[in-house]
This record gives sequence, structure tokens and C-alpha cells, in this order.
Amino acid sequence: MRFSSSPADGSRFTSAWADLAGVGRDHLRGGYSRHAFDDAEMQLREWFVEQAQRRSLDVERDRNGNLWAWWGEQGTGAVVTGSHLDSVPGGGAFDGPLGVVSALLAVDELRLRGVTPARPFAIACFTEEEGGRFGLPCMGSRLLTGAVDADQVRRLHDSDGVSVAEAARRVGIDPAGMGADPARLASIGTFVELHVEQGRLLQAADPTAVVGLGSEIVAHGRWRITVTGQGNHAGTTAPADRKDPMIPAAAAVLAARRAIVEHEGAVATVGRITPTPGGTNVIASAVALWLDVRHPSPTVTAGIVDAIASAVRDEAEMEGCTVMVQRESMVDRVVFDPGLGLQLSELLTAPVIPTGAGHDAGVFAAHVPSAMLFVRNPSGVSHAPEEYADAADCLVGVEALADVLATLVR
Ligand code: GLV
Ligand code: MN
Ligand code: MN
Repeated sequence: MRFSSSPADGSRFTSAWADLAGVGRDHLRGGYSRHAFDDAEMQLREWFVEQAQRRSLDVERDRNGNLWAWWGEQGTGAVVTGSHLDSVPGGGAFDGPLGVVSALLAVDELRLRGVTPARPFAIACFTEEEGGRFGLPCMGSRLLTGAVDADQVRRLHDSDGVSVAEAARRVGIDPAGMGADPARLASIGTFVELHVEQGRLLQAADPTAVVGLGSEIVAHGRWRITVTGQGNHAGTTAPADRKDPMIPAAAAVLAARRAIVEHEGAVATVGRITPTPGGTNVIASAVALWLDVRHPSPTVTAGIVDAIASAVRDEAEMEGCTVMVQRESMVDRVVFDPGLGLQLSELLTAPVIPTGAGHDAGVFAAHVPSAMLFVRNPSGVSHAPEEYADAADCLVGVEALADVLATLVR
């Protein structure tokens, strides 16, 4: 792979990166909390618009709140690159913004190389990729591609009870316009997303590799389990009188860990649990918990969810509680376009790796040839404040993205 990082290149990356460093810091959890349409994410959007305009790109916001910055005329067969600006609660700096910053710098690099796209080209920032506010991952790309029902999305709400429709209206988006955008989708010829590596598959494939290419995304989904019992006094309620929903909730946590041990290649996580009312000296009346399950096979994924749900139900029966399981989202395994993958792996001589993380590129892959580039993250830690990629590696990522785009826009 060509690597022409010079001190000037390095300062371009670090200065763009420094612009974002103070936006949306989460002083309680650490890291960043930047959620769809909140102040932090809106600030990042403004930054993106300004950066795009400085580069004479034409910026528009689509009906689903996704941002598009066009280099030249819009039209069919467009080469699109980009990622997202939102984060998980208390997340890292790189997941999402690295793809956006790299796309902007790749445009600079293409211009330095004298490349003028022979086909339409855009950088996109997609709304609520993490599902951190409204619970639905890849909300913007799923709305655009028609993968979700717009009515259902409009009704989703955040933990303060604000609906997607209300939140969109507050930032000037007409919620009635949200939904499938077939003309825009039909205009995209290729989608490429650069992303920080999550996990350690890249270094396992090649310890010296700085950039990898994505081959596939495993099947993954989210389920909400609500256990209802009887709220009561923590000090005065005899063991026999307790209907404590936290006990079946605990069974879900343990069953999730068992599933990982029992199913090769599976992961199952309870990362969020909310007791109602949530008092130290109160037996909860209800507990909501969210289950994230992933495995290459959708059938195995569904089987794991069933096993965890039945562990919760067994415990609930003994405890005198009731259980409700609702699927909030599910994505089948996605295999990225093999032809595009082969073309790019020959171009970059980069290792090809699967990923357990969901991405907007996975949503687009069902409609247009899509690809992903992963930039080395030495610890593999992601969705946490410690997520990190070295600036020199990020520059290699920009170069690789520019190489890819230069080939695709011809
Ligand atoms: C998104 O980052 C996900 O995989 O949850
Ligand atoms: Mn993420
Ligand atoms: Mn991401």
C-alpha cells in the first residue's frame, strides 16, 4: 500500500480531529455521548457542513436527516463514502467520526493527486447509526433504504419520552417526510465506509497490517425483555412474599454468558438494565433489560435468544413474575460484494476480515455494492472511552480510502 504521510499530512489530520475533541464529552460516563439530533450531534453536523463547504462541496440534508456533501453534480452511479457522527453512551472518539473525517481528507488527497471524479461523488453522514437515543441502529440508512417502517420509527422514543418525530421536528426535519427514498438509493452506485477496527481480528489476520477490508457482518439483533413483579419494601418483605423482577433479570445476564460458552462464534450481552422505580431500599416493580445477540447464523442467533428468554421465564415462574420479550431490531448476516472486495483487496493488499459490529455499509450492501475499510485499533477496545487509533494509522486509512475512491470515481 502507498503511504505518503508527510508532516503536512499529519497536521491536516490532527487539526481536523482536534475540532471534534471537545464536542459531546460525557463527564459522567467518560468518553463521548453524541446522540441523534442532540446538541452535541448537531454541533458535529454543523462542523461537517462547514468543512464540506470549505471544500466547495454542495451540502444537503435528506428527508431522513442524513447529510450529503456532493462534489460536482448529483446523479446516478454515485460513489458515496462516509459514516456517522453519533456515538454510544460514553463511547469512543473514533467510531463514526473517523469515517467522516477520513472522507473529507480523502477529498483533499484526491485533489492533491489531481483526480476529478468522472461520476457523481458524495460524502454522507447517517442519522443515529448506534441507536443510542431511540434504540434502532442504522436508523437513517434503514429509513432511506425502506428497511424499516417509517410510522414505527416516528413513534420510537428516547428515555425522556421524546419521540423521533418530535426530535426531528425540533431540528427542522418534517417527520412526515421520513421513510424510503428510492430515487436517492437508486442514484448510489457504490458505498464505501471507513471505520475504526473493533475487536482484534485485523491483528490476528496480519499483525503488521494498518488497514483491513471487511468481508461480512454477522447476524445481530436487539431484544427488550421486561420482567414485572411486585414493588415492595426491601426491609420488610419476607422472602416468601417477594416477587422480585431483578431475579429473572439476573438469569438473563447469566444465560447470555452461558450462550457464549455453548455456541462457538456467538456473543450475547446485557449492557443496559433499568429497574422501576430504581431505589436502593425498594424491590423493583419491573425491570427492563436489553439483550444484544450476534452470530454468523440468524438461526443460531434466534435459538440463543429463545434459550435466554426461557431461562428468564423459568426464573420468573418461580418468583411469581411475568415476562415480555420484544424484538427491537434484527439484521441478517451481510456479505459484502465479492467483486468489489476482490478489486479493493488487490488494490490495497489488505487482509480481509469479518466483523461483529453493525454498520450503515451493511444496510446499503443489500442494495448496492458496498465495502468497508478498517483502521488498526491496537487494543481492539471500542464503544468505550479507550477506543483508539494512532494518527499515523488514520493517515494510512485516508490514503487507502483515497486510493479506493480514485479507482471508483474513474
Ligand atoms: C454498532 O456499532 C453495533 O454494532 O452495535
Ligand atoms: Mn458503534
Ligand atoms: Mn460505527
